[in-house]
Amino acid sequence: MVAPVILSGRSLTMRFGGLVAMAEVDFDLRRGEILGIIGPNGAGKSTLLNIITGLYVPSSGEVRLEGERLNGVPPHRIVGRGIARTFQSSRLFSDLSVIDNVVIGRHSKTRSGVIDAIFRRSRADREMAASVSIAEELLKAVSRDLFEQRHRLAGELPQADRRRLEIARALASEPKVLLLDEPSSGMDDADTDALMDDIRALCAARPDLSLMIIEHDMRLVAALPHRVMVLDYGQKLADGPFEEVRLIPRVQEAYLGRKAAQNA
Ligand SMILES: Nc1ncnc2c1ncn2[C@@H]1O[C@H](COP(=O)(O)OP(=O)(O)O)[C@@H](O)[C@H]1O
Ligand SMILES: [Mg+2]
Repeated sequence: MVAPVILSGRSLTMRFGGLVAMAEVDFDLRRGEILGIIGPNGAGKSTLLNIITGLYVPSSGEVRLEGERLNGVPPHRIVGRGIARTFQSSRLFSDLSVIDNVVIGRHSKTRSGVIDAIFRRSRADREMAASVSIAEELLKAVSRDLFEQRHRLAGELPQADRRRLEIARALASEPKVLLLDEPSSGMDDADTDALMDDIRALCAARPDLSLMIIEHDMRLVAALPHRVMVLDYGQKLADGPFEEVRLIPRVQEAYLGRKAAQNA
């Protein structure tokens, strides 16, 4: 049986002044699916994640999570509804410990706010203790090695561990959908292989989690996603298993044409 669609986009268009960064893009993400998003630089890949997470409000079209419209819902509420992400460039708090970075990711799941912190300390304290132990379990699940380093400052971690920590922090909000923007960027082949193993283990442990991964490393794209969507100049060129999509002439042209232009 085919799993139900959890997240969908219809006719998504994003204009910045005269620039059309996304034009009439449709997509579906099914429960438990890993969808790869590929395309040359400037194709609109990050823009798509920014639309889904509410950072950008699309010029037209709509995004739905489990059938409910997300247009106009502010980013922190979208996290609360079950969509978490990592960014293309690191957004970690370098001066905080590894574990504290994950605890911050639980923000959307704890109820205590400023009022609690002042007048009802006990709830805030209880939630903090619970958050720390959940954060420790998460770190262990994402990477044992990262767990061992939980009291180090995030800024001291090697690049590959920083990327893993960002994934752990995103998972701390207990998402149904996890969006990763170029998770292997800055990694060598060995680190990328380790990252793929981590993501596979994560998906095996949480079969209901749905992933969208923007990626430029074709080894990862060939190995991990069930399906790949190709964007170019904000348009969707193709959608299907990587083995099929890579053979489509206009997909090859998007890559080869751009490379030829860059080399000229
Ligand atoms: N906030 C913005 N303001 C203006 N232009 C933007 C903005 N965000 C993205 N763009 C433009 O939209 C296009 C797609 O960008 P992006 O989605 O970041 O591409 P990708 O992630 O595929 O490399 C680019 O031309 C980029 O300059
Ligand atoms: Mg990008």
